[in-house]
Amino acid sequence: MTTVLSRPGGLHAIENASRDEIAGLQLERMKWSVRHAYENSAFYRKRFDEHGVHPDDLVTLADLAKFPFTVKQDLRDTYPFGMFAVPRERLSRIHGSSGTTGKPTVVGYTKKDIDTWADLIARSIYASGGRPGDIAHIAYGYGLFTGGLGAHYGAERLGCTVVPISGGMTERQVTLIQDFKPRIIMVTPSYMLSIQDEFRRQGLDPRESSLEVGIFGAEPWTNAMRQEIEHAFAMDAVDIYGLSEIMGPGVANECVETKDGLHIWEDHFYPEIIDPETGAVLPDGEMGELVFTTLTKEGLPMIRYRTRDLTRLLPGTARSMRRMEKVTGRSDDMIILRGVNVFPTQIEEQILKCAGLAPHFQIELVREGRMDGMIVHVEANAAAAAPEARAASAKELAHHIKSVVGVSTKIDVCAPDGVARSEGKAKRVLDNRAKA
Ligand code: DLL
Repeated sequence: MTTVLSRPGGLHAIENASRDEIAGLQLERMKWSVRHAYENSAFYRKRFDEHGVHPDDLVTLADLAKFPFTVKQDLRDTYPFGMFAVPRERLSRIHGSSGTTGKPTVVGYTKKDIDTWADLIARSIYASGGRPGDIAHIAYGYGLFTGGLGAHYGAERLGCTVVPISGGMTERQVTLIQDFKPRIIMVTPSYMLSIQDEFRRQGLDPRESSLEVGIFGAEPWTNAMRQEIEHAFAMDAVDIYGLSEIMGPGVANECVETKDGLHIWEDHFYPEIIDPETGAVLPDGEMGELVFTTLTKEGLPMIRYRTRDLTRLLPGTARSMRRMEKVTGRSDDMIILRGVNVFPTQIEEQILKCAGLAPHFQIELVREGRMDGMIVHVEANAAAAAPEARAASAKELAHHIKSVVGVSTKIDVCAPDGVARSEGKAKRVLDNRAKA
């Protein structure tokens, strides 16, 4: 495995500036952003007025806590263009996140916003070990989803040769990786596993591929999954985080030299961790819901946006900007089973401990009488697909989940290829409780 270390010459000075310098810049930009939102978006003006706060009330960074939160429902209520802070003509691009209702949550970018985004993705790829001149295979979906185009502009900005393949057609993904020999791949971790399977199906050893840097995100994944992918491909696997409402990918990214959580690009996004119940701001180090305020965004400024993602803030290491721990999950995805909180990432960790299982899984929630039940559907790996081996793996996994996570579950070990695959974000939880 070749690990390319970031060299100071390739970094933006702000990435390793002193904390005072970062905080100074944040305050200056936060004052601008809050005022921009208030003066140019009818939504924010009304919300701040109702709340009895004014941009003049922001004197220190801590004063941000006086301002009201923004939530996803606000975007739905103002669908499609009601929250923008610039005239529609000044937007050069629209993206959206797919909602369950069919109507996407719409976000918009000015030319300057697109430019900032490209810079931050370039910074993220560099932090991941990518370098100008590398070939970057981009298998995040292109379209309204921010993954494909976001990664694309940033990879070009860094000076990479971009292969804009998008998601899907897995056989062709492998062919093009073999033919073009990219050094970088950007894709969801769950789809990377499908690409890995396809390599093997074609009789190819993924370790022999040209890939050295994988930049994986858009869904939660664990350090156990990192080890699995790094081992399978002999590559460095790093985490990229973001959400459409704040920008898209590239809000935070891990550094390849430490792989110890994601540095938040704090010169553009101000993070807070709050208690999801009370809304109180928690000190760094405590687990809670991540909240972001954009500091430079023109088209759609976001003031105290509640992400629903659960994590904690940690001090900087490879960069002086603070880190967020790998996301445990979204509060929406938290399963409460007989009083115990369970996240799909906890199940993923236990699956990866079992030698006879492949890391493809889905959690089904069912109603058993008056109780909720959970079935973990997971695949046997090819070498352990015989009935006795599958029964042994099921027993082993049930034991790990019971002893580490603390809940009893049914385990359904299916044959290889038995669990539905996604070409983007994996759907980890199937809730069939209402149907029972
Ligand atoms: O998923 C943006 C993105 C694209 C990030 C490609 C990284 C790579 P949305 O579709 O708006 O945007 O979904 C955002 O996905 O609130 C998290 O719940 C989840 N998410 C994104 N990145 C990570 C990650 C994109 N690295 C939502 N780890 C977020 C865990 C992630 N969850």
